[in-house]
Amino acid sequence: MVYPRPVSTSDPSPSTQPAKPILRALDGEAVSPAPIWLMRQAGRYLAEYRALRESAPDFLTTCYTPDLATEITLQPIRRFGLDAAILFSDILVIPDALGQSVQFAKGEGPMLEPIGPGDVASLQPDRLAGHLAPVFETVGRVKAELDPKTTLIGFAGAPWTLAAYMAEGGGSKDFATARSWAAGDPESFQQLIDLLTGAVIDMLRHQLDAGADCVQLFDSWAGILSAADFETWCVRPAAAIVGALAQSHPGVPVIGFPRGAGYLYGTYVEKTGCAGLQIDHGVPLDQAARLQRNVTVQGNLDPVLLLAGGEAMTAQIRAIRGALGGGPHIFNLGHGVMPPTPPDHVAELVEVVRQADP
Ligand code: CP3
Repeated sequence: MVYPRPVSTSDPSPSTQPAKPILRALDGEAVSPAPIWLMRQAGRYLAEYRALRESAPDFLTTCYTPDLATEITLQPIRRFGLDAAILFSDILVIPDALGQSVQFAKGEGPMLEPIGPGDVASLQPDRLAGHLAPVFETVGRVKAELDPKTTLIGFAGAPWTLAAYMAEGGGSKDFATARSWAAGDPESFQQLIDLLTGAVIDMLRHQLDAGADCVQLFDSWAGILSAADFETWCVRPAAAIVGALAQSHPGVPVIGFPRGAGYLYGTYVEKTGCAGLQIDHGVPLDQAARLQRNVTVQGNLDPVLLLAGGEAMTAQIRAIRGALGGGPHIFNLGHGVMPPTPPDHVAELVEVVRQADP
């Protein structure tokens, strides 16, 4: 299903114009200078996050403790005055809510009890709303604390990326277990994807009801799929999610992130009808500018340039502003902030993005 959306560069009338710069950009306006937020803007590169995590319980319990999750969500907003706060949580709270065992061991990344075709029927989508109630409470608390100009972004992992972690039992270079399940037994894999599509819709609706202004769908492992599988496991579920939210929450923008989609980013926009498209730093700026004719583009500074800082970073910020500043653009990285990044570099990034002349 496609929901066409006119892209305008002229200012909409003040009465209909949402005040939040990120929502204006998602509505198709070429906001100048582009609003900015960063994926993984809350996290280990901030001393105040490390200090809080030191005395806090394990990572998932931190996500389920509204006092802590609210504080962590707001830390980068206080420090840098970014245009959006993104809820502090994780994509893997969904498998945890469905009853699969999920653990984050210190310094190890996520570990799940892997599931296979015989386990789909035992997942429990009815548990989701109750299990994730503290996450929705965090959304409401953050919303109450934010300046009216700051956008609150909710999020979920997309069905394919969630299924990949659930089948593999953790991270992987190629997610061969998940991909061979999908290839060898597409019927049961489709059942898993359908169940996850419903769970993601449920999760995002609750976040929107609790006060999120828009949502981002993270398909971090879309780029390892063949073109045909990309259509089946990434595009179709995303189109269903965007369509369902358009019915329950008309006009609320969804930002899609099929990371690593390359030439297929355009297909994703066309077939899902997402209002915003997060692109990775592999996307050339001329391709990004063409995408911008149909969608608000979000991205795409290489997180390594943020780590390095200095002239390499500022030159690329200017190149991005030069290429995308004439259309609807939200400044972001191409992937998350890396843990060793000096916070001063983030402050400089925000300053350079907000300077009057690119
Ligand atoms: O962006 C934000 O600031 C909001 C919070 C957020 C986290 N994870 C916090 C987190 C968001 C939006 C995510 C998304 C997420 N989580 C994705 C999709 C985006 C991407 O990075 O591709 C994925 C694949 C995950 C799964 C996940 N969570 C992994 C693989 C890891 C371990 C690797 C790592 O970076 O530590 C996590 C842990 C995690 N999620 C941390 C944070 C702040 C680090 C936890 C800690 O040690 O304190």
